[in-house]
Amino acid sequence: MVIAIDGPGGVGKSTVSRRVAALMSLPHLDTGATYRAATLRALEAGVPLDDEDAVVEALRDATIEIVGGRVLLDGRDVTAAIRAPEVTAAVSTVSAHPRVRERIVALQRRWVADHGGSAVVEGRDIGTVVFPDADVKVFLDARPEVRAARRAGDAEAAGRPPEEIVGELVARDRADSTREVSPLQPAPDAVIVDTSDLGIDAVVDRIMQLVARAQDRARS
Ligand code: DC
Repeated sequence: MVIAIDGPGGVGKSTVSRRVAALMSLPHLDTGATYRAATLRALEAGVPLDDEDAVVEALRDATIEIVGGRVLLDGRDVTAAIRAPEVTAAVSTVSAHPRVRERIVALQRRWVADHGGSAVVEGRDIGTVVFPDADVKVFLDARPEVRAARRAGDAEAAGRPPEEIVGELVARDRADSTREVSPLQPAPDAVIVDTSDLGIDAVVDRIMQLVARAQDRARS
């Protein structure tokens, strides 16, 4: 079973996805981490980020692996490094390149196949592009100010001014939603859950109901 959980930044995707994965005893894939690792590689190579050919070339020999929740770039643990503000600021530019997405989407599909074909996969385009046949598709949303407040509580935001985090979030939303390839948008068959006024438990419960319904459908 593939459970696709999409939505914008700061909506609580990671927390909720990890909880659902634990309840279902399924592996969890944070696809944002794969784009962040690609971005770190491009930054380290020093290539102009808006030059698709140069970014693709920088990624050519790169290996990106997700192992036991750690992110490895060429065998090096970059789990913390990919959360740096420089990576966050650059990731929308890098992930907008179609040939970067092609490469990273292939990696994501292979990861799920290598883990037995069942997983909770979180991202922006999982239900629309990466796994259009996912058994459960959820699109989490929340008002921008709520998302900014949630982001402010994340480790990556520690010690940074709240207005900087809000500005970053809004800019990244705009870039992710307006890019030509695989923009952030709900799949037509996704269930949209507005989490603005819901706690984590309520969101997880809602998703578990959808999972139970999908399991019933599969049985009948
Ligand atoms: O979830 P995150 O903030 O770590 O994601 C980082 C960026 O990666 C996000 O701004 C857009 C991009 N992304 C994407 O384009 N498609 C995905 N499936 C996941 C993330």
